[in-house]
Amino acid sequence: MSIDVSKIDVRFGGVIALQNVDLTLDRGEVLAVIGPNGSGKSTLFNAITGFVDIAAGAVAIDGENLASIPAARRISSGISRTFQTPRINATASVEDAVLCGFQPHARTGLWAGLLRPPSMRRSERDLRARRAKLLQELGLGNVAKQQMGELPMGIVRMVDIARAMAAEPKYLLLDEPAAGLSKAEQHVLVQQVRQLAARGVGVLLVEHNFGLVKRLANRVVVLDRGKVLLRGTAEEVSRQPEFVTAYLGTSTH
Ligand SMILES: Nc1ncnc2c1ncn2[C@@H]1O[C@H](COP(=O)(O)OP(=O)(O)OP(=O)(O)O)[C@@H](O)[C@H]1O
Ligand SMILES: [Mg+2]
Repeated sequence: MSIDVSKIDVRFGGVIALQNVDLTLDRGEVLAVIGPNGSGKSTLFNAITGFVDIAAGAVAIDGENLASIPAARRISSGISRTFQTPRINATASVEDAVLCGFQPHARTGLWAGLLRPPSMRRSERDLRARRAKLLQELGLGNVAKQQMGELPMGIVRMVDIARAMAAEPKYLLLDEPAAGLSKAEQHVLVQQVRQLAARGVGVLLVEHNFGLVKRLANRVVVLDRGKVLLRGTAEEVSRQPEFVTAYLGTSTH
C-alpha cells in the first residue's frame, strides 16, 4: 500500500514547478522532501491531493489513479494534509477547528440529522471523546476553548496537525509543520509522527529543519528547481556535495 508519484510534471503558465518527479511513499514510513524555496515541495503536496493539475505522469493512491477518483470521494481516500500557512477561522474555537477533521467519520444522513436518533447521539459523543483524547495527546487540552485568532502560530500549527490527524488518515502530508513551534512543541510533534508511522500511517514531511528531518525521516528526497536532485537516508544525502548548495538555497536559480 503506497502513494506512487510517477514522472509527474506540473506547470504554472511558463513556470515548470515539477519535472519528471518520481517517488513512492509507503505506509508506515516517514519520507521527507527537502529543497530550497520555490523547488516545488508544496506543489508536490498539491499534486498528490489534487489541488493542482498534473500536466504529465500520474499519482496513484493504493494503486488507484488519483485522476479517476472524483473530488467528492478524495476526502475519504485516506489522505490528510496540513498547509504551509494554516487556513484558520479566527473566531472558531480550537475544539471546533479540530472537529472539522473528523468529517470523513461523521456518518449522519439527513433523516438521522433531523431525528437525532440514539445512534447519532452516540456517534457525537464518540467524536467528542476522540477529539478530547487527540487534544490531550498533542498538548492542546488547556487551549480547547480558546479562539484560533488569539493563539500564537506554534499552537495554530499544532491545531492544524490535530485536525489532519482526526481523520485517521492512511497518509499524512505535513508542510513545514515545525515552523514556529517551540522546542517542547517540536518534541510533541516528533513523538506523534513516530507513533503514527508505527501505526502504519505513511507520512510525507516537508521540513526546513534538517535536525528534525534526521530524527524522523526513513528516507529523504531532495528537490531542486522542480527536479529530484538526490535520494537516500538523511545521512546519505547530507554527505553529497550538491546537498549543501541545494539545501542552503544557494543554487543559481
Ligand atoms: N499557484 C501558483 N501559480 C503560479 N506559480 C506557482 C503557484 N504555486 C507555485 N508556483 C511556483 O512554482 C514553483 C514551486 O513553488 P512551491 O510553492 O511548490 O515551492 P516550495 O518548494 O514549496 O517553496 P517554499 O520552501 O518557499 O515553500 C515556484 O516557482 C512558485 O513560484
Ligand atoms: Mg512550500
